[in-house]
This record gives sequence, structure tokens and C-alpha cells, in this order.
Amino acid sequence: MQDVFLNGDFLPAEQAKVSVFDRGFLLGDGVYEVIPVYAGKCFQLTGHLIRLQASLDGVRMKNPLSMKEWQTMIEQLVERNAGGDQSVYLQVTRGVAPRDHVFPEGVHPTAFAMSNSLQALPEKYKTEGIAAITLPDIRWQNFNIKAITLLPNSLLKQQAQDAGAQEALLLRDGYLTEGAASNAYAVIDGIIYTAPKDEKVLPGITREVVLELAARNGIPAIEQAVSEAQLKQAQEVWVSSSTKEVLPITTLDGEAVGDGVPGPVWKQIDILYQQYKQQGAA
Ligand SMILES: Cc1ncc(COP(=O)(O)O)c(C=O)c1O
Repeated sequence: MQDVFLNGDFLPAEQAKVSVFDRGFLLGDGVYEVIPVYAGKCFQLTGHLIRLQASLDGVRMKNPLSMKEWQTMIEQLVERNAGGDQSVYLQVTRGVAPRDHVFPEGVHPTAFAMSNSLQALPEKYKTEGIAAITLPDIRWQNFNIKAITLLPNSLLKQQAQDAGAQEALLLRDGYLTEGAASNAYAVIDGIIYTAPKDEKVLPGITREVVLELAARNGIPAIEQAVSEAQLKQAQEVWVSSSTKEVLPITTLDGEAVGDGVPGPVWKQIDILYQQYKQQGAA
């Protein structure tokens, strides 16, 4: 039976209940995090908790737990759910109050966490790469905040799936921002390009690791958005996220990317990423 965390307590998932007046339910008024766990140990936990705080600050919400309390709770949650490889989901909403757009006063945030086993990706995602389509970035203007209001992302991801692709790459004003559920990269003449950290993209924790590994290993990387034309000419295109790591896109809008197979720069980054994971980098 799966145990979850809700407002200070661990309890079986089916016993965890939230009021219908919770602002997360009525207004999508909340933020979240997804943290990968390998062999029972959280990967990049500090980075995720710092981003959670930034998201809470971005929506003027109080953090219900201290950094240390989050860490202890997450470790206990992972242990209760049998360790191994997991994906921890944290959500904080503004709490329970009569429905009103204006923020209520004196309300306690709702804090929820669950952990599920990390789904292994199909082997061919790495040997052959995945397919993506480009779509207009229809999301709001503050995507640096990891808000639970994911309807645009959900619509985009569904459109990709309907087209037989695994991800949608989003274009805003003619430039690549990111994927519907990932950060995006283009490799042009051996240089990795990814959009800069601003309000148009989520500051991905995996993206941070990729850029650090590139810097440490002398692989040139530039935080600069590529245009749609550059994207279509790129030798390699990738996406990254905590649960999918770094994946090569080998088909974009039905056309082969580069040679149509995972490229050499991606291979190098993937090897470095796997080594980094093995070292249990916290
Ligand atoms: C829109 C979006 N961008 C980027 C990411 C990647 O972020 P991270 O590497 O922190 O998982 C995600 C992850 O879900 C996402 O939803």
C-alpha cells in the first residue's frame, strides 16, 4: 500500500483527503516539484527545494515546511515506499478558503507529497531517439514558476501524442523556449544551445546538471534561444527532465534531425550524466 504525506502526517493514499474548497482544486492555486530518487537517495534535492521556495515566492505563498523539514519528510516518505528508484511529487496549495480570486488571510497552505516507482523508459528512446513536433507556446508568461496549472502543457503534450510524437517543442515569437514537460537543447556546429533562464522557461534542475557537466568537460554550451530556422538546421536536438534525464530527438515535425540517430554530443553528455548519477551527487 502506498503511503503519502498530507499536512504533517503520513497515511495510506486512499485515506488522504483534501477539501473541495482547497484553492488548488478550485483555482489551480499551487506549485509543485518532482524529484528523482535513485537507490533510495534523492538526486539534486537541494536544487529542487530551492526552486520550490522560488515558486512559492513567485506566487506569494508561505512555505509550510523548512528546508530541513522537507528533507526529513521526503527521506521518510521514500523509505516508507520501499526505497529503490522513485519519483517524489511535492505540492503546496494556498489552502482551504471560500472561493475568491483574492488571496484569503490566515489560511494554512496544504502540503502534499507522494512517491511512486520511477518508470523505466523504453530502451529505444536512447538507442533510436524520440520524435517531437513544434507547436506555438500557448502557456502563460511566468513559466519560471512551477505552478500546478498545467492545462496548456497537457493540451500540448496530448497534441504531440496524437501526432505520434513523445514531446512538443514550443516556439514563442519564432524562438524555441522549451518542451511541454522538459527543457530543450539544439546542437549547432558542436555548440549546445539552450534558452536562458528567464520567465519563458522552467529553470530545470536537469538542465543545470547538463550545463555543469558540459562546462567541466570542455563542451561548449551557450544559454541562448535558437530560432525556428536554427532548430530545423541543428545537427542534434535534445530534451531533459528529472524523470526522463536527457533524451535525443531524432525526428522533428516528421523530418530526421541531423543523421536521424542520437548524435555524438548527446552520447557524451548521457555518459557523463549517468556517471554523475552513479556517484549519487546530491
Ligand atoms: C515545462 C518544463 N520544463 C522543464 C522541465 C524540466 O525540469 P527538471 O529538469 O527540473 O525536471 C519540466 C519538468 O517537468 C517541465 O515540466
